[in-house]
Amino acid sequence: MIAIDLTGRRALVTGASGGLGRAMAEALAEAGAQVAVHYRKGSEAAEAVVAGIRARGGKAQAFGADIADPQAVAALFTAVEAAFGGIDILVNNAGIDGVRAPVGDDDPRRWEQVLAVDLIGPYSCARQALPHLVKAGKGVIINITSVHEFIPWEGYSAYTSAKAGLSMFTKTLAQETADKGIRVVAVAPGAIQTPINETVWSDPDALKDLDHKISMGRLGRPEEIASVIAFLASDLASYITGTTLAVDGGMLIYPDFRAGG
Ligand code: BGC
Repeated sequence: MIAIDLTGRRALVTGASGGLGRAMAEALAEAGAQVAVHYRKGSEAAEAVVAGIRARGGKAQAFGADIADPQAVAALFTAVEAAFGGIDILVNNAGIDGVRAPVGDDDPRRWEQVLAVDLIGPYSCARQALPHLVKAGKGVIINITSVHEFIPWEGYSAYTSAKAGLSMFTKTLAQETADKGIRVVAVAPGAIQTPINETVWSDPDALKDLDHKISMGRLGRPEEIASVIAFLASDLASYITGTTLAVDGGMLIYPDFRAGG
């Protein structure tokens, strides 16, 4: 029987107090991993995730840090190391999309903030995780990008630039570490129903427009991303590195081209 088994693995999921990260932390724990549930501020939501995992017999602990601050990231890894004795799986999930504004009307500081969280954050985390993975001669880093590593998005130039950058970071780091037993993979979710896009799915007209952009005609569920993360983190994906897997219900296959053209 083929089953995802992460028993004995220690995972850190950034931005795991809600949205996609929460589902990822739960899936990794369900597959047997010990999970560090990272949050930025307000520990209550993260503690609730931890309590849920523990109630189902899993192992988890909450850790707070500002991913945009490299020193805070270093402290985060010191804390996880002290609690878990190391790390085998890093999921760089924490991200923000910023405030929608076309270039020129936007605030450069906000642009930089999106880059700081969505691109420099994963870099800082990967940098901290690497010595552990290299020493162990194995490990997995999963970077959460977006369909917007491929699709331009008006008003979100910081987000699209950060996600495209994270994609190339994934490939370069994978190339650097493939001979050290380390895999680095990106996952590009499409429109998944989470708090980040609540203004869209809570508005019937906006939801209709978004559904129309998806070949399957519906938003995804966080669990539909989380199961892929658990698979990619596992040895079942032992030959996958340096690539992006889109999990998007067919958003990237241009549903508008079903007719005409
Ligand atoms: C964004 C969502 C959006 C989706 C599709 C994601 O990266 O976070 O807000 O619905 O892309 O456009």
